[in-house]
Amino acid sequence: MPDTVLRTGLARAAVLTGLEQPLEIRDDIEVEAPRAGELKVRMAASGVCHSDLSMQNGTMMSAMPIVLGHEGAAIVEEVGEGVTGLKPGDHVIISWVPQCGDCFFCNRDQGYLCENASAALATGGLLDGTTRFTSQGAPLFQMAASGTFSEVSIIPAIGAVKIPDDVDMKVAALIGCGVLTGTGAAMNTADIKKGDTVAVVGCGGVGLNVIQGARIKGAGEIIAIDMNETKLQMAKEFGATATVNASQTNPVSAVMDMTGQRGADVAFEVIGLGETIDQTITMVRRGGQAILVGVPRMDVMVQLPAFFGVVLAEKTIKGCWYGSSNVQKDVPKLLDLYKKGELKLDELISRTITLDQVNEAFDAMKTGEVARSVIQY
Ligand code: APR
Ligand code: ZN
Ligand code: ZN
Repeated sequence: MPDTVLRTGLARAAVLTGLEQPLEIRDDIEVEAPRAGELKVRMAASGVCHSDLSMQNGTMMSAMPIVLGHEGAAIVEEVGEGVTGLKPGDHVIISWVPQCGDCFFCNRDQGYLCENASAALATGGLLDGTTRFTSQGAPLFQMAASGTFSEVSIIPAIGAVKIPDDVDMKVAALIGCGVLTGTGAAMNTADIKKGDTVAVVGCGGVGLNVIQGARIKGAGEIIAIDMNETKLQMAKEFGATATVNASQTNPVSAVMDMTGQRGADVAFEVIGLGETIDQTITMVRRGGQAILVGVPRMDVMVQLPAFFGVVLAEKTIKGCWYGSSNVQKDVPKLLDLYKKGELKLDELISRTITLDQVNEAFDAMKTGEVARSVIQY
């Protein structure tokens, strides 16, 4: 890196150096100053999401070494050239899809598919494909144009959503991924009608939000499916009206039995496994919707009998990326629902941890004990 590059000091961060490696806590991260259109932010909190684990185990691919973390809330410390509408001291939620507002998709109100954000996500850098972190003489990539497992980060200004100062930053962090994705799947991606029977396969940090999104949309029955009893109990608190323990009961038969053998109006897959994707599509009624939210390994295929499974069944099978969210519109809407007591957010925080405990948070997620561990900086 050239000497002319301004440095803003050293930061502590959790770094993934190789597949299946524990995250390395480093305190020598050199952070470059924000360039035009960027912000330097001091992280206040970061959730530990299943997608972070998916980077470690290779379900999702990335350049390495990389600072993981993409579900964060932070305080703006410095603004780069040309940034308007944000100033030092502002509290922000980090959107891991920095929606440019001006590409093919952004112009069609599908900013969650933003072409510029997708390119950045693929490189492991910011919008210009380069990273602002260096450690041990090598560049460090930034997960999802953010890297929230770092005390300090540089992010695109369009990836910041300003929020009021009185919002708890741990709660704000969770909105950044799990809440927007889960509630968005139910409130934006799917078309849930009042009284619909909804099934949710997988009740982790994201699935619990699908459940509460379905409740807010007026679903009648909400069937929660998981293999973990604690999660099923939480699912009831978030609005599930029935639960199925998939380690004891076949979830497809259970949903068929509960719907007069017709199937659910809308079913969501919120894990990312081939087997549960099949189950989700099968448990949907004729004319119903299967919404695939979980991120599967790249080699997982969706296989269906074309006639009985699709044409005759007239099912809609729809992918869901970032809850089909327009972050600037949806964040205030969600904060409003939270204030009114309709959206449960504090209850998602199972554990508050330090950055140094991030590997323990990964272990807790693997065993399914927690909805979310949240790092407080
Ligand atoms: N059947 C039913 N439930 C299962 C099964 C299964 N075969 N396997 C796992 N589960 C449950 C777990 O018990 C857990 O409660 O799925 C849940 C997954 O939750 P988390 O690990 O908390 O994952 P989450 O952060 O909610 O993310 C879910 O969405 O954004 C994506 O990449 C993310 O693919 C991941 C998915
Ligand atoms: Zn996530
Ligand atoms: Zn765009």
